[in-house]
Amino acid sequence: MKSLTRNIDELTAQLQTKYYGRVCRWFDAVDSTNSLAVTWAKEGAGPGSLVVADFQRRGRGRFSRSWTADPGQNLTFSLVIDTEGTQRHLEMLPATLAVAIAETLAPITEPHRPLIKWPNDVLLAGRKICGILIESSLPSDDRLHRGYVVAGIGINVNQEKFPAEIADRATSLFQVLGRPTDRIALLSDVLQAAEVTVDRLASGETGSIVNRYEARMTGLGKIAVFRYVDRQRANEGTVLGIDQAGGLKVRTRDGVVVLRAGEVTFKETGNADSPIVEGTDASVPPSSS
Ligand code: BTN
Repeated sequence: MKSLTRNIDELTAQLQTKYYGRVCRWFDAVDSTNSLAVTWAKEGAGPGSLVVADFQRRGRGRFSRSWTADPGQNLTFSLVIDTEGTQRHLEMLPATLAVAIAETLAPITEPHRPLIKWPNDVLLAGRKICGILIESSLPSDDRLHRGYVVAGIGINVNQEKFPAEIADRATSLFQVLGRPTDRIALLSDVLQAAEVTVDRLASGETGSIVNRYEARMTGLGKIAVFRYVDRQRANEGTVLGIDQAGGLKVRTRDGVVVLRAGEVTFKETGNADSPIVEGTDASVPPSSS
């Protein structure tokens, strides 16, 4: 398989972006592209700066999980995001990137439709094909600390098999399409879509992003099961959609609640452990965003 990072000139030649990926650091192997991008952002890397690696020794996922991807087969990269633009809409950034990636994959994966599982997993044929990890620290009032937002993205591209522990939950383009995909072309397309969509978010166009998200959302109208961080009792309700800040709106027995962070499972998937969320259970009218 062709090395991505040894052919980074091809990426530069194909890029159609204004600034995403125009400044780039690439590596055959690193611990985590997110860790490098956070350090680089703290040192002053500008918006759109890209760290890409052909292999991560300690790829990181949400909830302190690990992200494993075979060397030379996949896309593992991190982007420094414009703090000024996105800071007012930071909660919506994971959903925004999920929309951009799902829409980029869609023409390649027909007739399979990439879907999004709240908050930001991209699924293909019912399994996870892409994960997104946002790490941020916003500027403090004393302005000594400039703040950063880093978005780490892992897309399973040409990996043929996954470790047994995740084999029933993970997939790749190769598994679904039965043929390899050009990682450089895909990365270029993802960067282009991410730039346009995140710029829209920064200019406050959350409404259209919510619509695009809900058009690809898995579980809409289904029964979601969850448990608040500080409570034992599991709760459940019908998924209504997301709000303008990317929160999951669920109609429960007690009214509409908004889940802000965490994970839900859907009842028919039959997971006995109710996943934990942070949420507000002050009822909000179902019509509110
Ligand atoms: C998740 O679904 O839990 C998020 C996974 C994010 C993985 C990507 S791969 C590139 C970047 N570097 C990391 O260490 N993690 C992210």
